[in-house]
Amino acid sequence: MPTYRAPRGTRDLLPDDRAVFDRLMRLGADLTRRYGYRPIETPLFEQTAVFERGIGEVTDVVEKELFRLAPRTDESEAWALRPEPTAGIVRAYVQHGMQTWPQPVKLTTTGPMFRYDRPQAGRYRQFWQFDVEAIGDPGPAIDAEIVELGHRFYTEAGVQGVEVLVNSIGDPACRPAYIATLTDYYRGHLAKLPPTERDRLERNVLRLLDSKDPDMAGLNAAAPRITDHLCEACSAHFESVKAHLAALGVPFRVEPGLVRGLDYYTRTAFEFYVAGREGQQQALGGGGRYDGLVALLGGRPTPGIGFGLGLDRVALVLAEQGGADGAAAGAEGPLAVVVSADPDDTVSRLRIATELRAAGLRVRADLARRKLGRQLESAGKDGAHFAVIVGEELVDGQVQVRDLQAGTQRTVAPGDLARELARAEATHHHG
Ligand code: HAM
Repeated sequence: MPTYRAPRGTRDLLPDDRAVFDRLMRLGADLTRRYGYRPIETPLFEQTAVFERGIGEVTDVVEKELFRLAPRTDESEAWALRPEPTAGIVRAYVQHGMQTWPQPVKLTTTGPMFRYDRPQAGRYRQFWQFDVEAIGDPGPAIDAEIVELGHRFYTEAGVQGVEVLVNSIGDPACRPAYIATLTDYYRGHLAKLPPTERDRLERNVLRLLDSKDPDMAGLNAAAPRITDHLCEACSAHFESVKAHLAALGVPFRVEPGLVRGLDYYTRTAFEFYVAGREGQQQALGGGGRYDGLVALLGGRPTPGIGFGLGLDRVALVLAEQGGADGAAAGAEGPLAVVVSADPDDTVSRLRIATELRAAGLRVRADLARRKLGRQLESAGKDGAHFAVIVGEELVDGQVQVRDLQAGTQRTVAPGDLARELARAEATHHHG
């Protein structure tokens, strides 16, 4: 037999892992509700052009990491799995005429993204993002509101030592001059550029600044900085974002080298890191403003801003910091296990369990054909509060209810059973 494994770069989230994700997703849902975001769901795949146009053709995400789906026929359009949700959400904003809704339209989604990346700890080919987008507000106040929301997510999730890095990467007014300066700078160091970077120099020089190639670190540190080349409007916007962040008490650091990896960004760019994680250069999350994206995907020019937080990385850091245990230990035993004196009477056990479940209770029926003693033993191991014991003969449908924690037992009529168990559970939970 061959051995089957999950595809390279993907992971199974076993129930304990899934419990951590669940807690993070509930937190995301609760926070976004408080901040006025509404959930949206877009397809896991889109026309490839949505990503090529939206994210940019000369980016790692599109050039190297896109999961392209093989077309089924010659004439069918090209599709790709979504590497991120922003392009798809903006596509939906345009398609459904959300320009006519009250602005900004504040949307959130959480789900799997796909990038054909080189797998390593914290870098997967299928990973989860918690994403928010506010479309139709030029900022700068909402920029700070969004950064604060991201920061609060980590705080409430229990991640320690999160650093907020912010920058402005300018707009179509000031970026061309900066790009010319930056191109000149790298041309002066052509011999030191790795092949991919040399190739990108004339096509999309900003991408050199966020190159993952370690050989680029020194060059990039000494490169001209966008923050020294911002036009007056971008500069004023950035100053105001910082003032708002300070007023909200969000600790942040300006990082002039931060340019992000996707082409749609304008002005505000930010990332979240955990300080002092050994050997890890991975962002826990990131986002920024994308004032040109709606128009790029065929809509009326409309500003927007958002972020995506990597849930796999949050879970990883929580585990490193010892903060994931509470959620993982969430395997709850049933309230009651239904057992019976007759090992073969699985019908009675299952019927009673079904009735109790219909009444909303967490109940397991012991379906193994084994002696009562063994059934009770297993109920105890389950951590069940009660055992519902069906006698050798069901006289008037009466059963015994044993409180496994108190060691008491009494007879209960069938019509009272659900109510009695529910009441006992309520008292137990509140007392
Ligand atoms: P991004 O920086 O490409 O931005 O991804 C956001 C986050 O997703 C990263 O900071 C990281 O935590 C997580 N992530 C990315 N790639 C991987 C991977 N291969 N494995 C595990 N986690 C990963 C975006 O995707 C933008 N859509 C964010 C945004 C929303 N900007 C505006 N609105």
